[in-house]
Amino acid sequence: MRDESGEPPGSSGAGPGPRGRHVIIAIDGPAGAGKSTIARHLARQFGLLNLETGAMYRAFALKALRAGLPLDQSRGLEALAATTAIRLEPGVEENRVLLDGEDVTRLIRSQMVTDAASRVSVFPAIRAWMVSLQQQLGAQGGVVMEGRDIGTVVFPQAEVKIFLDAAPEVRGMRRFDQLGPGAPIQPEAVLRELRARDERDRNRADSPLRPAPDAVLLDSTHMTLEEAVEAAGHIVAARLGEPT
Ligand code: DC
Repeated sequence: MRDESGEPPGSSGAGPGPRGRHVIIAIDGPAGAGKSTIARHLARQFGLLNLETGAMYRAFALKALRAGLPLDQSRGLEALAATTAIRLEPGVEENRVLLDGEDVTRLIRSQMVTDAASRVSVFPAIRAWMVSLQQQLGAQGGVVMEGRDIGTVVFPQAEVKIFLDAAPEVRGMRRFDQLGPGAPIQPEAVLRELRARDERDRNRADSPLRPAPDAVLLDSTHMTLEEAVEAAGHIVAARLGEPT
């Protein structure tokens, strides 16, 4: 469980956002709720860095798949984690993800890695490692951090917490549309996979997906993503006491 940067906590590019802010905005919610799009827009609007924590679980899952490890046994995964360095290079537009120095930004988006990420993330030792890396990344603030447990575990003291949700059917269709025409998968299969992931993310014993008590709930079932982005902008501005 190495942090290959060798740099002091918070020096991996995070810190005061581009406009010198130290605020932490936590965006949590299930798959397909629009977290990435909304986090990216908020980062741009409020001059913050955008950190996508799911990418870190995905990078580790990729390594476990490559190693041919059973994904349901903590011990092997823990041993693998002990020799793994994951680095998230934050950017307003996109995060670059380095796995033992290799740029895996694109590779971690496959369906197989997506499924594996949800499996390896149930284990407390793996979560503790990831949480500590994420706390280092956001230590100086100036970030929008997106994931499942940011407002509850990683930064319970975050100034703004938004829990994004939408009906599974809506999230499934958004996912399907993102895959584009000619995707080798039917909408029903996308929805099935999403429900399975929901089930695991919400019901794991350690840090299950759930809103922090002080999170603002934003349900985008009946909104376009553009409307959800606008609503999230209003929530943040109101919390920070700024005009929109
Ligand atoms: O956000 P995502 O789809 O890239 O996340 C992939 C998986 O990683 C997700 O199914 C659950 C896990 N995850 C997590 O447990 N905690 C986080 N903070 C982020 C992601």
